[in-house]
Parts: sequence; structure tokens; C-alpha cells
Amino acid sequence: MKDKNTVILGIESSCDETSVAVLCGNELLSNVISSQIEIHRRFGGVVPEIASRNHLTAILPVIDEALTKAGVSMDEIDYIAVTYGAGLVGALLVGVSAAKALSYALERPLYAVNHIEAHIAANYISTPDLKPPFLAVVASGGHTGVCRVDGINKFTMLASTTDDAIGEAFDKVARAVGLPYPGGPEIDKRAKLGTPSIKFVERKHKAELSYSGLKTAVINYLHTAEQRGQAIAIEDVCASFQQTAVDMLVDVAVNTVKKSGIKTVVAAGGVSANSYLRAKLKSECEALGCEVYFPPMSLCTDNAAMVAMRAKHMIEGGLPAAGLDLNAKSYLKI
Ligand code: KG4
Ligand code: ZN
Repeated sequence: MKDKNTVILGIESSCDETSVAVLCGNELLSNVISSQIEIHRRFGGVVPEIASRNHLTAILPVIDEALTKAGVSMDEIDYIAVTYGAGLVGALLVGVSAAKALSYALERPLYAVNHIEAHIAANYISTPDLKPPFLAVVASGGHTGVCRVDGINKFTMLASTTDDAIGEAFDKVARAVGLPYPGGPEIDKRAKLGTPSIKFVERKHKAELSYSGLKTAVINYLHTAEQRGQAIAIEDVCASFQQTAVDMLVDVAVNTVKKSGIKTVVAAGGVSANSYLRAKLKSECEALGCEVYFPPMSLCTDNAAMVAMRAKHMIEGGLPAAGLDLNAKSYLKI
């Protein structure tokens, strides 16, 4: 049974996780995540059409489970929130359609949430005292950069990758060395057993954020070694790639801290689960006198709790609700 606080039902289906959460005030009552990782693993990556079909079968049971776990009935929900972009259009459409149906049937306002803003908002759940201004280091499968957050609804991207996202690079490099999907956590594990002894790229500009060249350099290194019949030390490849990829983002974060003078830094997105990123960002930013916060692992990768929290701030800030003509968007900027 909910108390007098606002109850928000959040829905997330932008990639391969179907998730529904119930947020009551600042209290997370449930956050159910049904992952399709096992289904996509045998294809080496997410197959969009298969993702959509699996969201379709998962969405209603996941809604039921989230309500049951929260001990909240349908008519106790005050607002519906859903990720409408960025992501895979077919996957997003399942969440958006379910959210629109609930909003219409229950006569409750519908909030359309930007996925990356939601990843940043995950930090308000894990660090309830967090207040803007702060810098958010965004590291996900589709986005990479540093965002300045000046208010609960005020975001400015200060730096973004010029090509691939860091998570995409982790997944592609993992595939090239024969590790299963999703590659990020696999590289993280292997890197702990290796030494970062291979120099894949020459980094001339510390302010540059680009992953395509690094990814290609790793793939070329692997091909060359294969052609020459040389043994490949996968652990060293993982450690070297991971260090270069993460250092690039941490250097940009450090520059942004110095330029902005903002002393609070948070991390957001799936790659912020990376153990080396967590250690490096923390030590570099703390050396500059910053407080550094990370969401717990369960709130780093895709989940609906962050969607509900983002909607809470949209509601508090008086941002408009969406109409029933809401559509999914594959590309969406902050
Ligand atoms: O934020 P997310 O769940 O989905 C997007 O919004 O894209 O991020 C998924 C990405 C994947 O590329 C995955 O390999 C990566 O996060 N990831 C990691 C780790 N855990 C997940 N990358 C590096 N180290 C990890 N421990
Ligand atoms: Zn995500």
C-alpha cells in the first residue's frame, strides 16, 4: 500500500532489457529487470527484431511482477513514465505502446523519458543527497561524453565522442578476441589477469574522445598477429584496450572538472560498471578535490528505476506530459 507520496510506474525497453519499476516518493519499491542477454549471446550481439519480439512477451508479466513486488495496485499509480529514445525503435515501441495503453486506461499522465538523462538520474537513487551542479560522465553502449547538470532538468553536453560509443567499442573488441556478448564485463574480467603492455594508438590530444580508431587498431593488431602466426595474449589485449578506452574518457572528465570548477562528479551508463573506470575516475577526480559517485551495478545498466526517477524530476519541474501520439526515437540527444 503506498503512502501519500507520488507513485510513478517506469518502463524501459530501449535495448535488450525489459524493465518496470515502481517509485514512491524517493523510495524505490520495485525494479524488475528481465534480461535477454542469453537469447542474443548466440548471435554475438543484439538482434533488433528478436529483441522486439521478446519485449512483447515479457512486458505484461514484468509489469505485473513490478506491481506485486511493490505492493501497489494499478489504480494507485499516479504517473506513467517510459523511455522513448534513444534506442532500437522496435524495442522502444513495445515500452511506449504499453505505457500509452496504461496512461489511457488509467487516465494518468504519461512522461516521455530520454534514456541518457535517465542513466544520469540513476545517481539520485543511489545518492539521495546528490544535488546539481555536478558533472555526469556518460559511458554507455550508445553514448559517451561528459554532461554538465545545472538543475534537475538542466543538462548541457560538454564533450561527446566524435564516432563510436565506449560500450560499442568494448563489445566489438570483445567479439574480435572471441569473447561472448556483452563484451564489456568479459573484457573487465580478462583485463584483471593481463598487463596493459600493448600500445594500440598514439594519443596526441587529451581532449579528444573517439573510439573508432582504437577499435580498428585492436582489430588490425589481432589480424596481423594471426597472419604472422604469433600467439595472442588475450588478457593483455583486454587490459591494454580497456586502459586506453577508459583513460581517454577520464582525461576528458578531468579537463572538464578543471575548466568548469564543478567539484561533484557522477558516472552513468553500463560502462560505469567497469572496475578500472570506477577506480581511475575516482582517484583522478578525488585528486582534484571532487566528490565522486557511482550507481550500484544494478542501476548502471538498463533499468526502469532510473526512468521513474527521471520522470519524477520532470514532474517536479513542471515539464509537460506527453500525448498519446508519443513515438519512439532511435536518435535522441540530451
Ligand atoms: O547503458 P547500457 O546498459 O545500455 C545502453 O544504454 O547502451 O550499456 C551497455 C554497455 C554494453 O556495451 C556493455 O558491454 C557495457 O555497457 N558494460 C561494460 C561493463 N558492464 C556493462 N563495459 C565495461 N565494463 C563493464 N563491467
Ligand atoms: Zn542504457
